[in-house]
Amino acid sequence: MSMVLNIFEHIAREHREMEAMLQKLSDGFDRSTFDKLDISLQAHMMAEERTLYPAIKSGAEDMVERAQEDHDIMRELLEDLESGVEYSETISELVEIIRDHVRDEEEDMFPTAREMLDPGRIEELSQRFNEIDERIVQRSW
Ligand SMILES: [Fe+2]
Repeated sequence: MSMVLNIFEHIAREHREMEAMLQKLSDGFDRSTFDKLDISLQAHMMAEERTLYPAIKSGAEDMVERAQEDHDIMRELLEDLESGVEYSETISELVEIIRDHVRDEEEDMFPTAREMLDPGRIEELSQRFNEIDERIVQRSW
């Protein structure tokens, strides 16, 4: 029996953590929250791009491509936030794109993926997601 969190629950849990950090950053810039969001979001996106996205791409290409495009925009917005220019506009954009992206993943992508993937594959992806995510976060601190 595995001690690793199921990939869908793991991703959803990280979404909730990010939403809390974004809420805090919406009130104004604060370095430690920003750094934490930056590191967790970068790790989260990379882990998804190396596990869930390729696993379902053949059957859900449009969905994966759109999610990938969202990630690219999110990376640009994180860079813009770091520069501090037009902070409140940029944080609002980030909050909005993450809200839509999270909804797409949790309401459309996850149900699709659960249908496409067998339990063994989900288990394997869950392990891998956990490894990538933890490795990046640990290296960054
Ligand atoms: Fe994502």
